[in-house]
Amino acid sequence: AKLVVLVSGSGSNLQALIDACADPAYGAEIAAVGADREGTFGIERAEKAGIPTFVHRVKDYPTRDAWDEALTAEVASHDPELVVSAGFLKLCGPRFLAAFPGRYVNTHNSLLPAFPGMNGPGEALAAGVKLAGATLFICDSGVDTGPIVAQCAVPVEDDDTVETLTERIKEAERAQLVASVGRMVRDGWKVEDRRVR
Ligand code: GRF
Repeated sequence: AKLVVLVSGSGSNLQALIDACADPAYGAEIAAVGADREGTFGIERAEKAGIPTFVHRVKDYPTRDAWDEALTAEVASHDPELVVSAGFLKLCGPRFLAAFPGRYVNTHNSLLPAFPGMNGPGEALAAGVKLAGATLFICDSGVDTGPIVAQCAVPVEDDDTVETLTERIKEAERAQLVASVGRMVRDGWKVEDRRVR
């Protein structure tokens, strides 16, 4: 099964998928990696692995919709079974969502519906919760609101800083992403109401 992975940053989740895909039994291959900005380590990781890459920056298009159209066309050209947003810091538009219905997932560093948005670990610390974690979900038009595919929890330790908690979450998040994407491409999935099975 073909994947397209979208990144904006360091791409450690992408790297976990690249490593998993090296085993044919995993059942997936990464057809392309895309970014919304230049110079990301994620794109560098893809290039090192010999995976085709593309960059579409919003500011290079006259409108957000034109960007969405270009991104949609580029991703669709790879004919992916699943599109994975792994630290991709853009909300895709209606055109993109319509092109990959139920087949566009995002990994987020909180236990949704708690702490959506850009600062999951920091907000978890500030709220004093004792469990934090990561959520893989199917994207809809909201911010971190779509049907949940998988969640994993990690403890919040008394001496945690945003950095230490972020790292603990990311470790669990990578393992979850690899396991869940593998299961999805091998066994399939369906969404009924808000439940993914
Ligand atoms: C992940 O923790 C994701 O949940 C958050 O940004 C991080 C991306 O990390 N939105 P990386 O680029 O995969 O290393």
